[in-house]
Amino acid sequence: MATYRLAAIGGDGVGPEVTAQTFKTLRSAGERFGFEIETTDYDLGGNAYLRTGEILPESVEEELGDHDAILLGAIGTPEVPPGVVERGLLLKLRFDFDQYVNLRPVKLFPGAPTPIKDLTPERCDLVVVRENTEGLYTGAGAVRDRETAFELATQESVNTRRGVERVVRYAFDQAVQRRGKLTLCHKTNVLTYAGDLWQRVVDEVAAEYPSVDVGYVHVDAMCLYLVTEPERFDVVVTDNLFGDIITDLGAAVQGGMGLAASGNLDPERRCPSMFEPVHGSAPDIAGRGWANPIAAVLSGAMCLDHLGEQEAASAIEQAAASVIPELGSMGGPDMGMSTDQIGDLIAKRLASS
Ligand code: IPM
Ligand code: MN
Repeated sequence: MATYRLAAIGGDGVGPEVTAQTFKTLRSAGERFGFEIETTDYDLGGNAYLRTGEILPESVEEELGDHDAILLGAIGTPEVPPGVVERGLLLKLRFDFDQYVNLRPVKLFPGAPTPIKDLTPERCDLVVVRENTEGLYTGAGAVRDRETAFELATQESVNTRRGVERVVRYAFDQAVQRRGKLTLCHKTNVLTYAGDLWQRVVDEVAAEYPSVDVGYVHVDAMCLYLVTEPERFDVVVTDNLFGDIITDLGAAVQGGMGLAASGNLDPERRCPSMFEPVHGSAPDIAGRGWANPIAAVLSGAMCLDHLGEQEAASAIEQAAASVIPELGSMGGPDMGMSTDQIGDLIAKRLASS
């Protein structure tokens, strides 16, 4: 029987609560489909940093690297200034483990409370392939004459041919397996250097995928179409920051942050991939059972898919989706079930389906 060794980083706020539900459902899937889940817990995040003064000790990162995959809840706490744990933990893991694809499905499940009038699941099923190791996220830039009237700050977007090409290739492969449509999302009319590189790479790679229908959309128009006509899109490939922004919008369209899953992938499998809900640590609702674990559970399903357990992954997705229409809201006091009860219900349906 296969055993998967997973590292668990619950993190801060609602992170540990939702991650616990992910493992519940992964174990239930394992019983049904015949694999075992072995977990190691890592106490990392803003609270751990406040306690220990360390964000990610080298030895811990090395241990993480020795797992089949990493499941992350959420990190960040108001007491730690912005950027410290984000850069020091989350982005560090994405970069060091070369998880160059951030795969973020935007899928409207039946019964999910989309704010878009008359939107149906048939019209909203796309994936965003977000570049995850370059762009404006590298930290390149500088500040001069800080706190003077002459202060100057720059933040540079780094785009390498290799970095762009590998994520674009991944996106084309996805398009082949899906509905055969790929859209580059950028801002080539203004970002003429980076946008030009992206467009040329897409055009070059497209020649190798004659069956894929290739399109382009400016990121501002993307925001409009994602709301008015999400059926335009199948696979959307984009840079790091645009991907970050449009997937929050995507989360809203599909019914809220409580439903949005993601995977930080190293498609070459040299390093563990890392799966996490798109939402943050939501410290305001932590510890009350108000967090919707479905985003985390669906991220767990993406993890199984990555590990080669496609059947188990789609069974989890189905079981989780079946609960959505039964919830009063997608998070908060009106959810109608607690975080834990939702996890139990998904695990139970999975076992008996
Ligand atoms: C996300 C988050 C992160 C990002 C933050 C926490 C650094 O917003 O995963 O979307 O910007 O990538
Ligand atoms: Mn984000």
